[in-house]
Amino acid sequence: MKVSVKVPATTANIGPGFDCLGLALPIYNTVTIEETVLPGTGVEINLMPEDESVVDEMIFDNIPRDENSIVYKAVEMLYNSIGQEPSELRINIQSQIPITRGLGSSAAVVVGGLIAANKLLGSPADETALLSIATEVEGHPDNVAPAILGGFVLSSQEEDGSITYRRLDWPDEWDITVCIPDFELSTNIARSVLPKEVPMEDAVFNAKHLAMLITAVSTNDDKLMRLALKDKLHQPYREKLVPGMKEIMDAFKHEDGVLGCVLSGAGPSMLVISYKYDLDKIKSTVRDIWSAQNIKVDIKTLKVEPQGAQILE
Ligand code: HSE
Repeated sequence: MKVSVKVPATTANIGPGFDCLGLALPIYNTVTIEETVLPGTGVEINLMPEDESVVDEMIFDNIPRDENSIVYKAVEMLYNSIGQEPSELRINIQSQIPITRGLGSSAAVVVGGLIAANKLLGSPADETALLSIATEVEGHPDNVAPAILGGFVLSSQEEDGSITYRRLDWPDEWDITVCIPDFELSTNIARSVLPKEVPMEDAVFNAKHLAMLITAVSTNDDKLMRLALKDKLHQPYREKLVPGMKEIMDAFKHEDGVLGCVLSGAGPSMLVISYKYDLDKIKSTVRDIWSAQNIKVDIKTLKVEPQGAQILE
C-alpha cells in the first residue's frame, strides 16, 4: 500500500508571534510512503526536487536519508505511540519548498510523513496527536500547525506538553510578498544567536504587539496591523545573519500601504505584508537592496493557502 500527502509551505512568527504564529502558503511538498515487501531493506528515503536546476546539491546531500531523517523519526514515533515498530518503508519526498529558507520545508516533510504513515496504519492518531508528535520533532508548533490545518494559526505548547491551537481568518485583501534569497540559514544557527533572557521591556513590547496583531487580523484592521508587525525577541538578534535585512525593513517603514516587513520564520526569507500597495514596487525595492549585495532573490506574491495537508487519492 502507498499513500501520498501534499503539504503546504509555512511561514512562522509573522513578527511578534515568535514560536506561536504561522500561516500556510501555496508552495508544496508531497510525501509518499510505501510499505515495501522485501524484508531487511530498512528505510529508503528519496528526495526529488521539483526543479533540479534551482536546488543546491550541497543542501540536499546534507539531508539524512536513513533512520536519522526527521521524517523517519516522526514516523517511528507514531508507530511507537501505538506499540508498533515501523516496517520496511520507502519514503519519497517531492519538494517544491526551498530548503533552509524559513518556509517550513522540514515541517512539511514531518507532517506529510506522519499523515501518510497514519493512513497506512488505519488512522489511529487524531489531528491533535499528530500535531503533538510533529511539535516534538520540530521543537515548536508554529510551522507544523498551519502545515496540518492550513490558513493562519495561533498555536502554543503548554507546560504539560499539550498543544493548543486556533485557526483565524487572514484578511483576503492583505497581500503577502515572499522574498526568498539564494542563501541558506539553518534554524539551529538562527536559534543559536537568541539570548536565554531578554529585558522585561522587550517581553512587554512583544506581548503588546502580538495582541495588536491578533486583534488586527480578527477585525480586519489595517491601521492596527501597521503598528503590530514589530518584534524585539528574535528579529534584532538575527539581523547579523541576514545581510540586507535591516535595509529592506527600513525601506518600507514609512510606506503607508505596507503593513509591515518581517523575517519569515527563522529566515533568511522575508515577508512584506501590504494592503492596496504597488506590488512591483515591493519587488524592485527588495531586488535592488539584495542585488547590491550580490544576493539573487526569488519573489512571489501569494495568497494564504486555506487548505492544510491533504491525502492525495
Ligand atoms: N519560530 C521558529 C524560529 C521558526 O523562529 O526559530 C523556525 O522554525
